Amino acid sequence: MSMLVSLIAVFGLVAVSYMMELVGLHTVLGIIIPYTAVLVFLGGFTYRIIDWARSPVPFKIPTTCGQQESLSWIKHNKLESPSTTGQVMARMFLEVFFFRSLFRNTKTDATEGPRLLYTSDKFLWLGGIVFHWTFLVIVLRHFRLFVEPVPGFVHLLESVDGFIQLTLPTFYMTDMVIVLVVTYLFIRRVVIPQVKYISLAADFFPLLLILAIALTGILMRYILKVNIVGVKELVHGLFALSPVIPDNLGSTAYIFYIHLFLVSSLLVYFPFSKLMHMGGVFMSPTRNLPNDSRKHRHINPWNDPNIKPHSYEAYEDDFRKVMKSVGLPLEKDVDGEEEGEK
Ligand code: HEM
Repeated sequence: MSMLVSLIAVFGLVAVSYMMELVGLHTVLGIIIPYTAVLVFLGGFTYRIIDWARSPVPFKIPTTCGQQESLSWIKHNKLESPSTTGQVMARMFLEVFFFRSLFRNTKTDATEGPRLLYTSDKFLWLGGIVFHWTFLVIVLRHFRLFVEPVPGFVHLLESVDGFIQLTLPTFYMTDMVIVLVVTYLFIRRVVIPQVKYISLAADFFPLLLILAIALTGILMRYILKVNIVGVKELVHGLFALSPVIPDNLGSTAYIFYIHLFLVSSLLVYFPFSKLMHMGGVFMSPTRNLPNDSRKHRHINPWNDPNIKPHSYEAYEDDFRKVMKSVGLPLEKDVDGEEEGEK
């Protein structure tokens, strides 16, 4: 059901933008909606990050799966249990660029017996990482349309991505890969019963929307060609804050407006959705805290300032004589000497 709702929503967006183009609402499609979308995206993204940054972190809760820093002769696992900011950043880098924790993903199957079987599942990691890198390369390649002169890294990406030189215009491998990988990510949510059970419209919709953006882009580049000179005129006008609607986009301009409308929809949807994991990963206490609670006391910002802490030292000071009289071990003896010094 949620899959169907998402599918209808994406088709709805395509239909709405197509009809708006048909009735000639080019200023709305080419100027007003993209500007609004960028504003909502920037405002929403910033709001969410500030909101997270202001949330108290009551406990030190980094996720660890290795030996924490301890005595000098116990080997410290700096990546699995980082204890300094540098080590936290190294772990974060590997997480963000290589999805290191997802690499350990396992799947659970009930087999005959009945027996639960846990096995390694690298496909989600592979699908996830290929999708994100491909998306990034495609967005970076778009800088060809946004900036003049075209930056050197865009030429480099274009020649690597298009090295097969199969078609005219040059076929980009990322175009094929993004369609395949988004289709895989979508199908696994439909086919694997456990994943299907937990999948909501919020999971299907972004996948379908991104697929629709990629497909309209591909259609525009290889089949329904639009005039790129006109596209650049529009985009540069938007960037320069003096927008114009060019009249030389060609007879297939509608596909460009649909593509732009879908991208704008993605931008508006982004700050209110799970896609915020892009910024959220940096704000996650399980990832951004060092595991150094033996070295530094973590103060809970929710502590009531009117309730003074009562340390063990002070507790022993209060009850030393009584504790001694019933034979409890003391850190300092009644005469003030440390127990170990005797
Ligand atoms: C989320 C952001 C975007 C994604 C994922 C995306 C995706 C794609 C894809 C997959 C293609 C196929 C060709 C290629 O890979 O270069 C494409 C083409 C295209 N996109 Fe986008 N796009 C995005 C944003 C935009 C924006 C903001 C604009 C313009 C304002 C735009 C304009 C175009 C144009 C004009 C083409 C055809 C390029 C050509 O003929 O070489 N796209 N897009």
